Parts: sequence; structure tokens; C-alpha cells
Amino acid sequence: MKIAIGNDHVAVAMKEHVKVYLEAKGHKVINFGTDSADRTDYPIYSKLVADSVVSGECQLGILICGTGVGISIAANKIKGVRAVVCSEPYSAKLSRQHNNTNILAFGARVVGTATAEMIVDEFISAEYEGGRHQRRIDMISALESGE
Ligand code: RB5
Repeated sequence: MKIAIGNDHVAVAMKEHVKVYLEAKGHKVINFGTDSADRTDYPIYSKLVADSVVSGECQLGILICGTGVGISIAANKIKGVRAVVCSEPYSAKLSRQHNNTNILAFGARVVGTATAEMIVDEFISAEYEGGRHQRRIDMISALESGE
């Protein structure tokens, strides 16, 4: 799978850990930065990863900041994004199955690397179930379009 990844200055080491972890499993990871510890602004990376996912360049995206909160809020402002912020794997799995999420966010200051691996594994292996959930996804899209 082709996965977009982005992060702010707080999450450089965590991003690198997740990138190496996913590549070892055979995934192609497109890194949108930052790769620097210099203070930066997380919406930059929300936009880069979101555009990559919404355009179809990447199938899924991963965003990491201190808490996962700011970077997911910013991503959810972009049409076509359904970003979830998770600190445990169950919600990551269910968000894919029921909410057809396309971006996972989490906090480098919230979860350790082992938990992050579990969250990422559930997120990328779960599949959207469609069916009864599609009506709600369509309602979310209508909200996005101002209907
Ligand atoms: C940066 O200090 C921090 O605010 C950011 O990484 C994130 O936690 C925001 O939601």
C-alpha cells in the first residue's frame, strides 16, 4: 500500500519509527516532513498529506504531532478527508470499518512506539464495510458541501 506520512517538529523520531516499520512490511511510504526539530506549524503537513490522499496519490495517510489533535483538526478541514485521532488500536480499526477514515492521526507525546505500531497495523489492515455505514458517510459529505 502507498501511505502518505507527515508530522510536526515534536514527532520526527516517531514518524521515522513508523516509516521504517511500514517499509519493513513492504509498504511504500511517502514522507512529507518535517524531518527537522526546528519549530514548525502542523497544518502545513496536514495539507500535504491530505492532498496526497484526496488526489489518490496515496491510499491512506498518517499524521503525527504532539497529541494528534491539531494535525487531525487541520486535516479534517480539507474536503474528502475523514481523519481520526487515536490513542488505541480499537478505534483505529473501527474508524476504517465504519467511518471509512482515510487519515490516521496520533500523538507522539501520547503513545509509545509499540502502541503506535498496533494502532497503525489496525488502521491499514481494516477495510471499510460500506452497507449501513454509507448513508452516514454521505451525510458527512453533504455537511462538507454545505448542504
Ligand atoms: C506543538 O507544540 C504541539 O502543539 C503540537 O505538536 C500538537 O500537539 C498540537 O495539537
